[in-house]
Amino acid sequence: MKLNKPFACLLCLGLIVNHVIAQTASQLNASIESKVDKLLKQMTLEEKVGQMAQVSIESLGGSNGQVFTFSDKMKDAVINYKLGSILNSPGPLQAPQDWNRLITEMQEAAKQTRLKIPVLYGLDDIHGVNYASGTTLFPQEIGQAATWNRQLVHDGGVITAYEARAVGVPWTFSPTLDLGTNPQWPRIWEDYGEDPYLSAELGVQFVKGVQDPLGSKEKLVVSLKHFMDYSDPKSGQDRTDSWVPEHYLREYHLPPYAAAVKAGARTVMINSGLINGIPTHINKHILTDILKGELHFTGFIVTDWQDIENVYRRDKLTKDVKGAIMLAINAGIDMSMIPYNYKGFCSDLIALVKEGKVSRGRIDDAVKRILRVKYELDLFNTPVTLLKDYPKFASAEFQRAAYNTAAESITLLKNTNNTLPLSKNAKLLVTGPNANSMRSLNGGWTYTWQGNMTNEIAQQYNTILEAVTNKFGKDNVTYVQGVAYKESGQYYEDTVTGIDAAAQAAANADYVLLCIGENSYTETPGNLVDLSLSENQLALANAMIKTGKPVIFVLNEGRPRIINKIEPAAAAVLNVYLPGNYGADALADILAGDVNPSGKLPITYPRYTNVLVSYIHKPSEGDSNPQGGAFKPQWPFGFGLSYTSFAYSNLAINKNSFGPDETATITVTVKNTGARDGKEVIQLFISDLMASFTPDVKRLRGFEKVDLKAGESKTVSFKVPMKDLAFVGTDNKKHLEEGDFKIQIADQSATFNVTKTVTF
Ligand code: BGC
Repeated sequence: MKLNKPFACLLCLGLIVNHVIAQTASQLNASIESKVDKLLKQMTLEEKVGQMAQVSIESLGGSNGQVFTFSDKMKDAVINYKLGSILNSPGPLQAPQDWNRLITEMQEAAKQTRLKIPVLYGLDDIHGVNYASGTTLFPQEIGQAATWNRQLVHDGGVITAYEARAVGVPWTFSPTLDLGTNPQWPRIWEDYGEDPYLSAELGVQFVKGVQDPLGSKEKLVVSLKHFMDYSDPKSGQDRTDSWVPEHYLREYHLPPYAAAVKAGARTVMINSGLINGIPTHINKHILTDILKGELHFTGFIVTDWQDIENVYRRDKLTKDVKGAIMLAINAGIDMSMIPYNYKGFCSDLIALVKEGKVSRGRIDDAVKRILRVKYELDLFNTPVTLLKDYPKFASAEFQRAAYNTAAESITLLKNTNNTLPLSKNAKLLVTGPNANSMRSLNGGWTYTWQGNMTNEIAQQYNTILEAVTNKFGKDNVTYVQGVAYKESGQYYEDTVTGIDAAAQAAANADYVLLCIGENSYTETPGNLVDLSLSENQLALANAMIKTGKPVIFVLNEGRPRIINKIEPAAAAVLNVYLPGNYGADALADILAGDVNPSGKLPITYPRYTNVLVSYIHKPSEGDSNPQGGAFKPQWPFGFGLSYTSFAYSNLAINKNSFGPDETATITVTVKNTGARDGKEVIQLFISDLMASFTPDVKRLRGFEKVDLKAGESKTVSFKVPMKDLAFVGTDNKKHLEEGDFKIQIADQSATFNVTKTVTF
């Protein structure tokens, strides 16, 4: 709810018309290009600049209680200023029918303009269409990544697109492809984890699920965000400076974006922070040279929230907003996301063009890109889509898909003496601030920006307490909250409501289900000063441990909060991340053994607040350092247990030596050696054993999730092009060097060599 954003910051300080998969200039659709050129020729400078402006809905009307209505301000913006785009939720959660009405009214206004160019509405569909009531909400991206299941992520994209078109909004500001390398950063849960390969693979699936085939009434345009390296600021705080050499940017942060642009992503949003002291919004090298040049991106670039103004107000680079507009547009920004003052943007940009400070060519390029995407979406023929034409909206089929994603995301991190699964008549004490909260299960970007209304809005879904009570029976479940999140103030503040009462209740239980973690948040309000679990929650955990009853930890958190002081005494640990509206049902099924857990960590779970090293690191930070490396995570990247066991055998590679243009075929057999059916994620890691640039200890180069019945075996094969094993050197080029490489899959390993050095 961006309406509240400044306030919050103050508080905390069917018919497929065009099948378009346009990627590179040579692949653009000729008929669309000629329509774009024809339209552009008719446009005045004012009309062009209008297309480049996007304003937030709350500046265009108001709500009387729950329902938002446009005022004449909307007509002024669309008819007089010819704005190209509107974004955001107006504040109160709108029903799909209300969205339909608003979009219809907006497009009717657009029809009153001389050229009748439809307005492109954009919303943050972060885990489903989270700004409309009644939609299907999935686990947040970190949980989706924990499934390691491409198909589930793809299908989540298909459903999100379908429901977004039912609502009438054809543009989503997702997926987030920032790497979750810095666990302090408040948006780590909005990402697919810390690995570039995993992020790229899942990001591509989501883009395809949402966009393909673009032009269909069931599809949307995505916006990859936030290009790039937003996620690893030196301070760990949101929207700050990242210190990173370009070869690291290219090695780690660029590949997920490159893969998603190649898969056809049509819009890209920019990093709100700085890279090496330069606000990314004015960084021509990143926006124009790399994104539009090297990646051949032919869609358009949109800023993040108020970020041109930030160049002036926050970053102190210019003497006024106009100067910032000049720098940003010249750097390659095509559309400016302006919360309120779009009139100033339009008049300043028109003046800059007249003064010769922004070229007409740059304006034409920006507008062409925006019109191209509007044609590709078929917005000119279908400016409005309506709920009545989307019968599968919020269907049982869609809800099942969200449940399945949650069930495959939940990660079993510890299970001493097979504590889990529990017998169905086990007596449970359920406790902790996350035990009875839909808000903490969903996280931010849920009904409102900070997700702070979810307990009121999502009452028809089950909290952990409700799902566990349904599963184990009312007579077997006792609830004492123990610690509660505060309703106001900082999102992470909690208060003791009865630790002694919880300890007393534990006396009558067989097990304690300790539900701990974080409340909902996103962006700057989610900044944190200490990654450790809160003092009150640690006290509750210690009190539960002291009872002598087996304590099962349920971690419900957006980022890994440090628990090294209490983890050794846990009987079992399950990480549910932010699993969405069906997450508690999935958890209850896992506790009872009706579902066998198969999630794996998409991030490293750190043990110490001062050692936030990701699994991608140099040997000096790891075990092979003779003086002892610092990398001793609580649980490593890729880790996750099952109720069954798997054995690996027969790792084989088709040859021992490869030329740089060759591709290796690697096979391995995995067998379910336990008594239960289960799913296993086979992870292929490869290490470059020696190079002229210190190699990472190991890197993920492939994964597959397989479903194995008890006793069943499968042989899985991976194709790895040698060129994928190259590193980016300090010359910013890729180098594949001759020498030995090691393959590791679970406990199996093998070596091979590359015969020739190449640079590309
Ligand atoms: C966030 C973006 C989001 C945009 C529009 C910004 O504050 O950083 O992720 O897409 O707002 O709501």
